[in-house]
Parts: sequence; structure tokens; C-alpha cells
Amino acid sequence: MDLHTSPVSFIIAATIASIIYQLVKWRFGPKTEQVFPPGPARLPVLGNLLQLGPLPHRDMASLCDKYGPLVYLRLGSIDAITTNDPYIIREILIRQDDVFASRPRTLAAVHLAYGCGDVALAPLGPQWKRMRRICMEHLLTTKRLESFAKHRADEAQHLVQDVWAMAQTGKVVNLREVLGGWSMNNVTRMLLGKQYFGAGSAGPQEAMEFMHITHELFWLLGLIYLGDYLPIWRWVDPYGCEKKMREVEKRVDDFHTKILEEHRRVSEEKSKPTGGEEDGAEMDFVDVLLSLPGEDGKKHMEDVEIKALIQDMIAAATDTSAVTNEWAMAEVIKHPRILCKIQEELDLVVGQHRMVNESDLPHLNYLRCVVRETFRMHPAGPFLIPHESLRATWINGYYIPAKTRVFINTHGLGRNTKLWDNVEEFRPERHWLDDGSRVEISHGVDFKILPFSAGKRKCPGAPLGVTLVLMALARLFHCFNWTPPEGLRPEDIDTKEVYGMTMPKVLPLMAVATPRLANHMYH
Ligand code: HEM
Repeated sequence: MDLHTSPVSFIIAATIASIIYQLVKWRFGPKTEQVFPPGPARLPVLGNLLQLGPLPHRDMASLCDKYGPLVYLRLGSIDAITTNDPYIIREILIRQDDVFASRPRTLAAVHLAYGCGDVALAPLGPQWKRMRRICMEHLLTTKRLESFAKHRADEAQHLVQDVWAMAQTGKVVNLREVLGGWSMNNVTRMLLGKQYFGAGSAGPQEAMEFMHITHELFWLLGLIYLGDYLPIWRWVDPYGCEKKMREVEKRVDDFHTKILEEHRRVSEEKSKPTGGEEDGAEMDFVDVLLSLPGEDGKKHMEDVEIKALIQDMIAAATDTSAVTNEWAMAEVIKHPRILCKIQEELDLVVGQHRMVNESDLPHLNYLRCVVRETFRMHPAGPFLIPHESLRATWINGYYIPAKTRVFINTHGLGRNTKLWDNVEEFRPERHWLDDGSRVEISHGVDFKILPFSAGKRKCPGAPLGVTLVLMALARLFHCFNWTPPEGLRPEDIDTKEVYGMTMPKVLPLMAVATPRLANHMYH
């Protein structure tokens, strides 16, 4: 990770510069006293950067254990706070939402999200508001999502058939690949009208290109790039991160340009009038966006706006659900007792003579507990996407300057020992409601689990995300028994995570599937 590279000469030069700066500031600067939240001692210039290792969410959680629920850090030239506490999180996301709902303009966001012209990485402002409204009113409406239900059902069938074919040959299933394909196909069918993996897909060449670009994009977006914290680092950029960002920016843009051209060509061929046809069932998201008027009376949205939105949807939707599914499968295979309970519930609610449908999902309360427990222990991302304060404010009497970067540690929240007992134990039963009412996944009034965040920046794709997670798990547990590859015991399945924008397992999950329904059910 770029974060850990600090040539000695650079540190010495930077330290001297900082000492001079601090002396000048002390001699001539304003003398007002503002009490920052507690935090660890820091080095000149670098601040606390060197205190963050390869798993910064764990380091920040330890700092919260030591200094309290709200910790101040100085990351190079940037003020930052971090928390894993429900009260402070509620203060930031709800009570002071209008102060904290902005985003920092990181270099990755500038290069890889069309100059922050998207939804997820855009600072708070009229452009973010407009783009988010387009998402909510035209793309992620209940009606639009229902119109893709048939595609999702097709994909669920492909998922089962793929695994069934591997089970026939006794092949170990690479669940990272299988679940990644499931998420990617659902999202690209909805967005681009294309399926990228499996029979009848857009073809291996295009699929590989698409996967490759998306992985590079995620990697760069998740990187803690020192140039964002130490402007001087950008002159050196010893690992060529910015160069890489510009390269990926160009390749992603070429890909999106191709998608727009294809859609325009097909639309002309069919002479399909695109204007005003808002609810056409056959329209994918790109068709919808091409049909919408632009700003200030323009006939169409700008291409760059459409591209930014497509990219956001792909980035926000695919990896989050795939990573969650892989963690849930890993924990369940590690705990055969839980697999039995899930299957008992499935047999009771669905039976063994038909496949699980989306309409079954609200009734699978134990499976819902499994997903909630997965989000507690392994939230899709270790932090929410960083927020930034628009102006100076106070939390719990502590001063928070304008432009403070906010790291809400969802990984730390789920393992906060003040909120949860036996934090390292995967125990879905802790979410079971004795009155039998439906277990909610996407939100909780107590802010003890926050998979989709809250307030202005909360995830607009939560209902779709929940469906993609529950449906894949329900089908895979209903149709198959799962065991670790030969020679491994369930408890040997590793659960180490790697840091990034999302937080996958270090090693892809491999397991053996054995069909548990009658043969004809798989065709
Ligand atoms: C299991 C699946 C998913 C999880 C766990 C998840 C989680 C999140 C989280 C934690 C955030 C950041 C909120 C914040 O910074 O406060 C977010 C933002 C976002 N998500 Fe999701 N998400 C999922 C699926 C989706 C899907 C399916 C879509 C759309 C198709 C989507 C679209 C977005 C967008 C556009 C944002 C940015 C919102 C903004 O900044 O205004 N997500 N999501």
C-alpha cells in the first residue's frame, strides 16, 4: 500500500519544514484555544500517518479503545476524526447531517469519478443533489427494479446450474468467482442490457476487459494515497499511482464511450423513440439515462454525466454484494450447525419441490439473521465512504474544523465490545426477534449495525443490495450442501480480511457443493 512508503530523506526534509512552520505559526498565528477530540501524539508533517498499518480500520478501532469514542487524527495536512460508537455516528449522520454529508475531493475521486461528477464521491452541492435525484426517481425506483425481476430470476437459475455442473464433476467451487459473476451479471443486465458471464453472455474477451477495469478501479479507489495527505508526495509519486489513475481513467472512459455508442446505434436501428418513455420494461439504465432531459433546458444529459452514473452503479453495486455473499458463505460453511438451521427454515418455507423466489425472502427470518450477522462482522466496506465536514462544528464539546475527513468505522462498530458480547463469534441468533416479526437488514434504530449508512448519503441501492445477497444465499443453501475442500475441516476456513474500498477475505473461498434436491430440479 502506498501509505507505507516513506523514504528517510523525505521524512527528514518534511520534518524540518514542519518545525519551521510550527514555530512561525506559534509566533505569529492566532491564539484562540480550541479543544480537539483526544487522539494519539503525532509527528510533524506526517501527523499520525505512520500509525496506520495495512488494516487501518483495526488500528483506528484500537485508538477508539484507548482514547474514547471520538478520536482526532492528523493525517499529513488533513484533519480527520474516527469513531465506532453509535451515539457519535448518529450525531454525524443524523443530527449534524447537513454539516457532515460532503465528501473529500480525493485524487482517485477526481480521476476515476469524472471529476467527482457522480453521486457516491461528489461533494455535497446542487450537482450531487441532481444526480442522486436521477438515481432515486429514474433508476432505483421500486417499479424499475420490479421490471428486472425476470432477469434476476434467470440469473438465479444460471447460478444454480453453474454450481450444479461443477458438483457433477466433483470440482471444488471457487465461490468468489461464482458470486462475483452473479453480482456482475445482475448489475450489467440492468445497467447495460448485457450479461457478461455464462452462456449467451457478451463474450469472454469483453467480460475479461470489463472485470479487469473494474478491479483496477476498486483497487485505486480503496487505496490510501499519500498524495491526498501530503501534497509534496505528488511531486515524487514513487509508485506512479497518479499515472495509473490517469491510465485507468482513460480505459474506463473508452469503455463507457463504447457502451453509449452501442446504445445509441441500437436505439436508432430500432427507431425506438427514447424521449419520455420512462417506464418501458425493456429499457436498461443506459437507455433511461439517454432518454432524460439535461440541465438548463438541454435536450439530453451530458455524456459525461451518464458515464459517471453508470460507473457509480457498477462500482457501488457489484463488489459490495459479492463480498458480503462470500463472507456469509464462509461463515456458514465454517459453522455446519448454522447451515442445518438455514436449510431447515428453507425446507419449511419453500419445501423441496420448487426453487426459492424473491417473494420468499421476507419469510426467511433465520437467513436474514445470518445476513445481519455477516454485516456485523464483515461489513462490505471497513469504513463508510469518507464524509467531510463543510464547516467548523462541535461534537460532545470537541471542536471539529471545516474540511475534517470522517472515518466511520463500521468494522469497529460491529466488534465494539461495549455493544456486543463475544464479538468474534458468528452467532446469527443474536438478531432473532422473539415476537417473530421480520428481521430488518437495511437499517436499525439503535445504529449498532450500519450496512447501508443513514442520512443524506445513505445507500440508495439498499433494497436491491439486500435482494442480491439474500437471493444468492437462499438458492445456494437450498440447492446444495456445502463442505470445505478435502483435507480441510470447517473450522480451518480462514476469515482474514484485506483492506480496501470493500473488504474481502484474503483468500478466495473454495468449497465442495453436493446437490440436495431431486435431479430434475436443476434443469
Ligand atoms: C450489499 C450491497 C450494498 C451495500 C452493503 C452498500 C453499502 C453502501 C454504503 C455503506 C454506502 C456509503 C454511505 C455513506 O457514505 O454514508 C453506499 C453508498 C452508495 N451506494 Fe450502496 N451498497 C450496496 C449496494 C448498492 C447497490 C445495489 C447500488 C445501486 C445500484 C448502490 C448504490 C450506492 C450509491 C449511488 C451510493 C452513494 C450515495 C451517496 O453518496 O449519496 N449500492 N452503499
